[in-house]
Amino acid sequence: MRIAVAGSTGAVGSYVVQLAALAGHEVVQISRKLGVDARTGEGLLDALDGVDIIIDTTNTTTTSRVKATAFFMEVTQKLQSAGNAQRASRLVTLSILGVDLIPGFGYYEAKLAHEAAAKAGPLPATIVRAAQFFEFPSQILSRGSLGPFAFVPSMRMQPVSARAVAQALVDEATSGGDTESTLELAGPNVEELTSLARVIVRSRQRRTVVVPFRIPGQAGKALRGGSLLASSTTRIVGPTFQEWFQGDGAAGSRN
Ligand SMILES: NC(=O)c1ccc[n+]([C@@H]2O[C@H](COP(=O)([O-])OP(=O)(O)OC[C@H]3O[C@@H](n4cnc5c(N)ncnc54)[C@H](OP(=O)(O)O)[C@@H]3O)[C@@H](O)[C@H]2O)c1
Repeated sequence: MRIAVAGSTGAVGSYVVQLAALAGHEVVQISRKLGVDARTGEGLLDALDGVDIIIDTTNTTTTSRVKATAFFMEVTQKLQSAGNAQRASRLVTLSILGVDLIPGFGYYEAKLAHEAAAKAGPLPATIVRAAQFFEFPSQILSRGSLGPFAFVPSMRMQPVSARAVAQALVDEATSGGDTESTLELAGPNVEELTSLARVIVRSRQRRTVVVPFRIPGQAGKALRGGSLLASSTTRIVGPTFQEWFQGDGAAGSRN
């Protein structure tokens, strides 16, 4: 199959590229660094020439509801229309586990808009909702640091290997599965984000101080209260954070 990966240079997208190629598929990479902009559409129609399936793992770092919604809507509409023009058969869109259970949190509201835009067609779309990746604490540390302080939100989650999520995305994309259902993925253990951030800071041997902060309102309550955790319909995949960290994970997280 010819598979396009939008967001192919990202934390999960780079694994999707690797694993799809390993399974013998032809992979087309979509990222601005590689000259294709899925938001403006620059280079997109050419990139999607002859593509069977599109896997969307794009992301924006803004937490503003308005800005993040505009990003995901524009990217999805461009992928949908260019993919349809090039006769792709399906779109697989990556979202977040529990995204519908965190009221009033801008980025998550944008992800719900992302899902809706994918489902609006014309291509049939499958939504895969994953828990936070093992790389998530590092992403938060790099985005939320001020001098020696790193401000990390208190939240309970069931972190998952980005590689295992990528494998599920490739399997889902190539299985011709049911586009009406939503696949949910999480890792084996429940963890507190601030604790994982401290594990990473210690391994970097820096003097960074992790400062936990409580996101206010209903959203913060839901994040701390376990709304992001797996339910009975969630598939548990991959190793634990500790297993990953003792293996390949530590090297990447120290950067
Ligand atoms: N991180 C997590 O813990 C987590 C957990 C569950 C679900 N998710 C979801 O998974 C998705 C990927 O997250 P991630 O952490 O892997 O993202 P990431 O590491 O921030 O990577 C984002 C990717 O999107 C690309 N991108 C951004 N703007 C683009 C544009 N206009 N056109 C084409 N490509 C563009 C980036 O490449 P360029 O900058 O080169 O364009 C990069 O390859 C997101 O939708 C996120 O909501 C993330």
